[in-house]
Amino acid sequence: MTESHPRISKAVIPAAGLGTRFLPATKATPKEMLPVVDKPAIQYVVEEAASAGLDDVLMITGRNKRPLEDHFDRNYELESALQKKGDAGRLAKVQESSDLATMHYVRQGDPKGLGHAVLCAAPHVGHEPFAVLLGDDLIDPRDPLLARMVEVQEQHGGSVIALMEVAPEQIHLYGCAAVEPTGEGDLVKVTGLVEKPDATDAPSNYAIIGRYVLDPHIFDILR
Ligand code: UTP
Repeated sequence: MTESHPRISKAVIPAAGLGTRFLPATKATPKEMLPVVDKPAIQYVVEEAASAGLDDVLMITGRNKRPLEDHFDRNYELESALQKKGDAGRLAKVQESSDLATMHYVRQGDPKGLGHAVLCAAPHVGHEPFAVLLGDDLIDPRDPLLARMVEVQEQHGGSVIALMEVAPEQIHLYGCAAVEPTGEGDLVKVTGLVEKPDATDAPSNYAIIGRYVLDPHIFDILR
């Protein structure tokens, strides 16, 4: 790898949406903090970025999103109480989320949409390709999807979008990609994107899921 092509190290996690679909649960609690088994959903996403080698994480936040910052920070009061109780297991779990990655935050003043949220990352990201992870999709931690996407971007350049095959009658629920084969098993060339098409108009049954590795040129387009 040459100096002009540094390894991708930055992940952007947009988390400034209003979360209206989960109301009233998300009236005062960010949707990203809703628990999945024993952890808030957003922790799985940060773990996924870190395990793909992206240890610089920028979260796009907004009003009412304070708990996100607190979750990835130390909590000395709680840690010392657990230490006094000799509860090493829970202490380790509490410390885990603050040790995952170097966390950065930027506020999106108005939730003007996902594209605008990604644009808020421009000053932090600079001129390197970067990953975007949406907390609405949780990926099995055993699936090396993001690491593979980083590898594909480094080999081919451009931007890489994760796709998932769905039943044709489900495609109207997703963004859909028009694709051409590449000859590489898990890789297709995206030739177009259609938002939530009717099954009859859909160019494929490949649905866009919330994992992207983007060329920084995207910022000019978003502007
Ligand atoms: P969604 O479309 O899921 O919107 O955003 P939402 O507000 O989170 O949820 P609903 O639809 O109202 O229930 C997709 C992703 O983009 C982020 C969201 O936080 C989510 O991760 N987003 C969306 C922003 O960061 N800013 C925005 O202005 C909009």
